[in-house]
Amino acid sequence: MDITIATNGKSNTASVSDAILLEPSATKEKNSSSGSDTPLGDVSASVVDAEVVESKPKIKRSRSGANNKAKNFYLDIDAGAKRVKCRLNGKYKSFPSEMKEMKGDVPLRNDGCFSCGKKSYVVGRAIDRVNGELIVGSQNKKLSHLNLWVLGAITHYRKQMKDCTSSRRRKSQPAKINLYLRVVTLSSPQRKELDKMLKQISNFTWEDTDFEVTVKSCEFIDEGEGAAVAITRLYGNEIFHLIDLGGGTCSHSTYEWDGDELSTVAKTPVSGAGMTSIINKIFKALTRTDRGAIQAENSDIQEALELSRKKEDDSWEVPMRINGEMQNISSEVLGALSEWVGNNYALLKQFDYISQKLSRGESVYCSGGGFAVKIIADWILKYLSADIPGAKIQVLDEPQHVNLTGLKWLDIVEGGQDV
Ligand SMILES: Nc1ncnc2c1ncn2[C@@H]1O[C@H](COP(=O)(O)OP(=O)(O)OP(=O)(O)O)[C@@H](O)[C@H]1O
Ligand SMILES: [Mg+2]
Repeated sequence: MDITIATNGKSNTASVSDAILLEPSATKEKNSSSGSDTPLGDVSASVVDAEVVESKPKIKRSRSGANNKAKNFYLDIDAGAKRVKCRLNGKYKSFPSEMKEMKGDVPLRNDGCFSCGKKSYVVGRAIDRVNGELIVGSQNKKLSHLNLWVLGAITHYRKQMKDCTSSRRRKSQPAKINLYLRVVTLSSPQRKELDKMLKQISNFTWEDTDFEVTVKSCEFIDEGEGAAVAITRLYGNEIFHLIDLGGGTCSHSTYEWDGDELSTVAKTPVSGAGMTSIINKIFKALTRTDRGAIQAENSDIQEALELSRKKEDDSWEVPMRINGEMQNISSEVLGALSEWVGNNYALLKQFDYISQKLSRGESVYCSGGGFAVKIIADWILKYLSADIPGAKIQVLDEPQHVNLTGLKWLDIVEGGQDV
């Protein structure tokens, strides 16, 4: 038997078993957890905004006997070597892949602070406020500490966390979260272990409130898929290539899109060829020239790179403050880039392969935080398309975010509705 459900002015048909899932209380709770800024909450299931025309009779429960209701948290997370990118109920954030494990209380009103068991953690920018053991994503900790990156990500969303605490019926009992995870990962062989680790996420404390987490689902998504899906929607190529220049890795993937299904034809990551290696080479170049820049830290170089711009005469400016004076380190940056490719055989081969594909007229798109640095993006694009007239290569909009923000297109595909 089929019944009719009105959804946002549209009309859907659902089976009886669907109708049972659409118990009014469940519908109401889903609606309350998906605010106006929570598109994923809106689209994750066709039941979200549903108004049941025909349903089971309500079962009345006494208020005093009711337990706290769980809020639905849909979290997409890409814990990269340099930055954690995340999306909770459709809202995007990112923060450095750095945490400190400490004893004692964490600071209040700071993003990414929580306690778990006897230990306390500060994840992201707030680490500068506390003393403790430093753990950074780049030292192979991006996967082994995934459960902590997940809790660190959730506790960056103060509004959602507060909603969860304030909507509790029984204030003496923990706030409850139903967690639906989508994890972006390159290391597929470790999926089973990761799944086990993530399903163990249970209790933690945030701003003196206890939270109880139930991991409802955990899906793994291939790194680059978010950007690739975005490309299919924006440009609709049948076959295309994607370069992702991240903090630790530079990877090249080839995708095929038949208008319906996206398939990964090839993927070659060159680990150790990411931004960290470029920055180390710039650092070395700076110590070779007599600028007194030896006191500069990698984070200073990173900041200078983020400020890079093309001047009116088409030369580059990469401004860095050195001993009270602003200096342009563009020549060191350009030299370091040629060393970065020239000294790395795997990268050299990868770039040759991509140029070959450009010669055949295939399209290449660029993503990852490295391409957000204008001088680096410009240098790589020129290198890859040298002597190839009309080469089809471009940097995607917001290249530092697109791998994760592009996942919104998967919501549409799966939910069958527009955000
Ligand atoms: N907005 C920005 N402007 C300029 N550079 C940026 C920006 N965002 C990120 N970067 C650069 O990109 C790097 C991080 O890129 P990304 O977040 O893609 O790496 P990751 O995913 O952490 O690393 P990996 O993919 O290797 O695990 C940073 O080290 C920084 O140098
Ligand atoms: Mg990455």
